[in-house]
Amino acid sequence: MSTKPIYKYNSRYPSVADLKKKAKSRIPKFAFDYLEGGCNEELNLYRNENDFDNILLKPQYLRVGKDIDMSVDLFGHKYSAPFGISPIGLQGLMWPNAPEILAKAAAKHDIPYTLSTVSTSSIERIAEVSEGKAWFQLYHPTEDRLRDDILNRLKAVECPVLVVLVDVPSFGLRYREIKSGLSMPPKMNISNIFQAMTRPTWGIKTLQHGIPSFATLKPYMEKGLDLSQLGQFMNKTFTGKVNMEKVKAIRDIWTGPLVLKGIATEEDMQAAIELGVDGVIVSNHGGRQIDAGESSIVSLQKLTSNPNYTSKLKIMMDGGIRSGVDLARAYAVGSDFNFMGRPFMYGVGALDTEGGDHTITMFKAQLYQIMQQLTVDNIQQLQERLIK
Ligand SMILES: Cc1cc2nc3c(=O)[nH]c(=O)nc-3n(C[C@H](O)[C@H](O)[C@H](O)COP(=O)(O)O)c2cc1C
Repeated sequence: MSTKPIYKYNSRYPSVADLKKKAKSRIPKFAFDYLEGGCNEELNLYRNENDFDNILLKPQYLRVGKDIDMSVDLFGHKYSAPFGISPIGLQGLMWPNAPEILAKAAAKHDIPYTLSTVSTSSIERIAEVSEGKAWFQLYHPTEDRLRDDILNRLKAVECPVLVVLVDVPSFGLRYREIKSGLSMPPKMNISNIFQAMTRPTWGIKTLQHGIPSFATLKPYMEKGLDLSQLGQFMNKTFTGKVNMEKVKAIRDIWTGPLVLKGIATEEDMQAAIELGVDGVIVSNHGGRQIDAGESSIVSLQKLTSNPNYTSKLKIMMDGGIRSGVDLARAYAVGSDFNFMGRPFMYGVGALDTEGGDHTITMFKAQLYQIMQQLTVDNIQQLQERLIK
């Protein structure tokens, strides 16, 4: 049997469910609801997680295994583990300084952290703490001038991968956010302030790190906008409607790896291939946009079963992955790389500065264990273990 690497993490939180429970007790309800929620009746949120249960894997006990290698080559870089951190907006609202905590931990473990355009740390700061390794997710700006400025800033920090989000032609209808007042524009009402007072660690840390803001967008905003003006700024500045022409313009400017996030159908996959992008992230925005859509893992299954797609670009996915076993399942279905959103925020909410490191180590340990059990030596072999 191969020697197991030492995965050291806080043994009180061996699973995403443990981290989520702890995070819920430390994050004010309005912010936790923002993190947790899906759209409409939250059916696709449910499907994202539960459809993984139908993916079954088999071992091959009598083959002789070698040492396990979890690394993956992607866009010219060898990542030490086959998963990354999805872009999440307003991260610092859910847990103070979350983007920096996660970007640092990802850099230490050599996995990708993706900064959202609407997260609470700037492109430059995240490039610094991640030693230039962080990816960036672009909400498409309405004006070309702003798009070009952001792309120039990304070039200046040598951002390795640009991810363009395509699945927000309008904001998702999210009842939890409407009720808590945390919609666009975000509002702070009496109930939210009261909820914050019941979460003292969050409150103290928010005071330490300052009220979160859209740090990357600061240069384009007038000073002293109140919250409703901020919402108006966001609506005016970004258009979710990303068409082929807009992506083509970015493809012409951006010479590095370009990825489209939110591809879930054959039609969009064919368009992505036509546009010459380097990869797609099969995603439904964590079940936050279309409640009648299929789960990410089901979309992935359809798209990776077509060799015309798999041979042309990298097909990655996110949505509903909650364990090393789920990671193994997604690779078995044919994914080239996988991302997770909420689990990392649970980790930081539960364990603050230790949360990034803990969650990454926990997933590595879980994936290692299932790979050992399935008797595979590397990520590619997982495809042979799918029970069809
Ligand atoms: C609170 C929250 C905020 C998000 N903000 C963004 C965002 O700013 N940009 C983006 O591309 N995706 C965003 N997403 C979607 C995630 O990148 C990712 O697709 C999703 O969380 C994956 O599902 P999972 O949470 O089940 O892993 C957000 C998701 C959540 C839960």
